[in-house]
Amino acid sequence: MGSQDHHALWGGRFAQGPDPRFWALNASLPVDRRLGRYDARASRAWAHALGQAGVLTPDEVAALDRGLQRIEAEFQNGTFPFDPGDEDVHTAIERRLKELIGEPALKLHTGRSRNDQVVTAFRLWMRDAVDTLAADVAMLMHALLERAEADINTLAPGYTHLQQAQPILLAHLWLAHFWALARDRQRLAQLRLRLNVLPLGSGALAGTTVPIDREALAQALGFQAITPNSWDAVADRDFVAEFLFIAALIGVHLSRLAEQVILFNTREFGFLTLDDRFSTGSSLMPQKKNPDGFELARGKAGTLIGQLTGLLITLKALPSAYDKDLQEDKAPTFRAFDELHRLLPVLAESLRTLHVHPDRTEAALDPATLATDLADYLVERGVPFREAHRIVGQLVRRAEALGLGLHQLPLAELQAAHPAFQEDVYTRALNPRAALTRRDVPGGTAPNRVRAQIQQARATLEDPGPFGPVPHPEP
Ligand code: ARG
Repeated sequence: MGSQDHHALWGGRFAQGPDPRFWALNASLPVDRRLGRYDARASRAWAHALGQAGVLTPDEVAALDRGLQRIEAEFQNGTFPFDPGDEDVHTAIERRLKELIGEPALKLHTGRSRNDQVVTAFRLWMRDAVDTLAADVAMLMHALLERAEADINTLAPGYTHLQQAQPILLAHLWLAHFWALARDRQRLAQLRLRLNVLPLGSGALAGTTVPIDREALAQALGFQAITPNSWDAVADRDFVAEFLFIAALIGVHLSRLAEQVILFNTREFGFLTLDDRFSTGSSLMPQKKNPDGFELARGKAGTLIGQLTGLLITLKALPSAYDKDLQEDKAPTFRAFDELHRLLPVLAESLRTLHVHPDRTEAALDPATLATDLADYLVERGVPFREAHRIVGQLVRRAEALGLGLHQLPLAELQAAHPAFQEDVYTRALNPRAALTRRDVPGGTAPNRVRAQIQQARATLEDPGPFGPVPHPEP
């Protein structure tokens, strides 16, 4: 490759071109080409700002705008001609602009540095990325809501320590995952506020000598505010760390949901079956039907956490306003975005299409999960809870010794343990549907409360709250 033409941006000071191996290391184009249309857009706004500052003539601004519009379109439709000599996307755009409009292209970089340029383009990209991810998350929330509606009557064991604890409605479990994602979507909306701040006009680190109206520039690019410190503006990658944290947390949430589905999909549980379209077979064992999509969801969480920790370690103790280390910010971010953007719609569809087996979830319910209700029964009849707990513990042991379910213990056995037990204990306490109905508290698993929760979930989906709705363009 002709390394002589590479360093068109900064070659004046150099007697020799870069070593090709160093060049390959230094170049970021393979990664940051994704910023192309955002960088072109920011450059158009910059050209106008230079015009308003009296640095460019109206003709020069018009030429730049025309060339950059064309470049923006080339990035959008994938026809932008890259050159092996391009160092990064900013260099590529300047080179292309020169090809398209000639001399005025050489004036675009007046008063600007790639340091403020790159974070501007990156923030513009991330604004769209956040909106897209929020819509992807909403898609999965929607699927969980649909599942909750479908499984509103399905009685199932609820687990703590992966041991049966108390009966729940399966809908309640799906909604538990819904709310975790609702918080993630809110986090994305909050990030959007901190993200939507313009760094351009900060120059290399100290500010620009051109009298740029930064407020007007921010408005032109749809930023809500301008950065208050030029050094911080080019050094700050908090927005990247936050993005990766949210991505990692979404990954963690998906992994917990996935693990639950994987477990429930086993023959041993048999609570649900995945649709053929979202399962895979084995190359060897003809009978196999594997939950690969959910396993990938579980696995991607590890990758996403890695992207976050990698970036934080890159940022740690960085001394300058800009150091080339910061170029490492983009690859993990694009990767995290791509992983989730691919994963979330698949999970949504997998959940929507899976088949729940209510006979199995109900049959799996251990009557001992009614022990809390049995204790509550005594409490309602004046027995202190700690004493009731002890009595019911003994009854659980007694039932086990007799080889009976807790609900099968004869009344005489119950009354031998405590005289407050009456015939109604079988319908009021030793009955899983009754146990559900008794959790009649906001957020509880009582059917009326779960139905209210479904309403609340639907309202949350329609109105994401104080941070406003998020549109859905494709980055
Ligand atoms: N490709 C660079 C990055 O992503 C652009 C900024 C380069 N700045 C510089 N001073 N070399 O960080």
